[in-house]
Amino acid sequence: MRGVVLAGGRGTRLRDRTGGANKHLLPLGGRAMIEYPIDALLGCGIDDITIVTSPEHEHDLRAHLERRSPTPGASFQIAIQRSPAGIADALGCAEAFTAGEAVCVILGDNVLERPIRAHAEAFAQRPVGAKVLLCETDEPERFAIASFEGADPGAPIREITEKPASARGSAAVIGVYFYEAGVYDVVRSLEPSARGELEITDVNRAYLSRGELAHAFIDGWWVDAGTPEGLTRAESLLRRRERRA
Ligand code: TTP
Repeated sequence: MRGVVLAGGRGTRLRDRTGGANKHLLPLGGRAMIEYPIDALLGCGIDDITIVTSPEHEHDLRAHLERRSPTPGASFQIAIQRSPAGIADALGCAEAFTAGEAVCVILGDNVLERPIRAHAEAFAQRPVGAKVLLCETDEPERFAIASFEGADPGAPIREITEKPASARGSAAVIGVYFYEAGVYDVVRSLEPSARGELEITDVNRAYLSRGELAHAFIDGWWVDAGTPEGLTRAESLLRRRERRA
């Protein structure tokens, strides 16, 4: 399986901290933010990693990759997303680099407490359709929320609701997705959403409607560090994890 880290986007909510630089290179727990999703992929045994970013940030990202301590056996490629047209659009930019293989896609601002290797291995054994990872959240209005066919969260997903205003459950679809090699055809079939973006939730809904969307809950915490509050929370959770180690 190949890995894809999505590190394009506008980064508007962290602009006060970045001054326009790529938010994924902001320091977090003594490293650059992007090192956490890279670590999550490497921890799955995935060592062929494509990082998608915007043209204006390519230079800084390349410099970062050259500076970081090398990971034996790992190779990194950069794919360019010409404009920030959505997370699914960013995934589409990785097509030429993933060469007909299944992919594990991770958002460049997502930080996880624990390895996800078992989930990756389970998908790699049978790379059919898609699989999303879920984590309980107390802020359902910020995320895509999965609801299930029955009361048991092991039951199949019934629907995914984007940022529900009223309680629709608390199982957030986190920014780690496993897809079969054919996901790029699904991306090509999408129409832009009301905000003019190709939405990753629409990719996941396409698999759901075919009955090919699996899911699993992660162990431990997950943080979307793409906001000032998220970044602060990630700092403190990483510090706590460090103290416990
Ligand atoms: P978001 O945090 O939803 O969007 P953003 O990074 O543009 O930030 P903001 O909303 O504050 O302006 O994106 C989640 C991740 O997805 C982020 O780490 C970067 C990636 N992404 C892309 O690679 N391309 C895109 O077009 C978008 C929208 C996001």
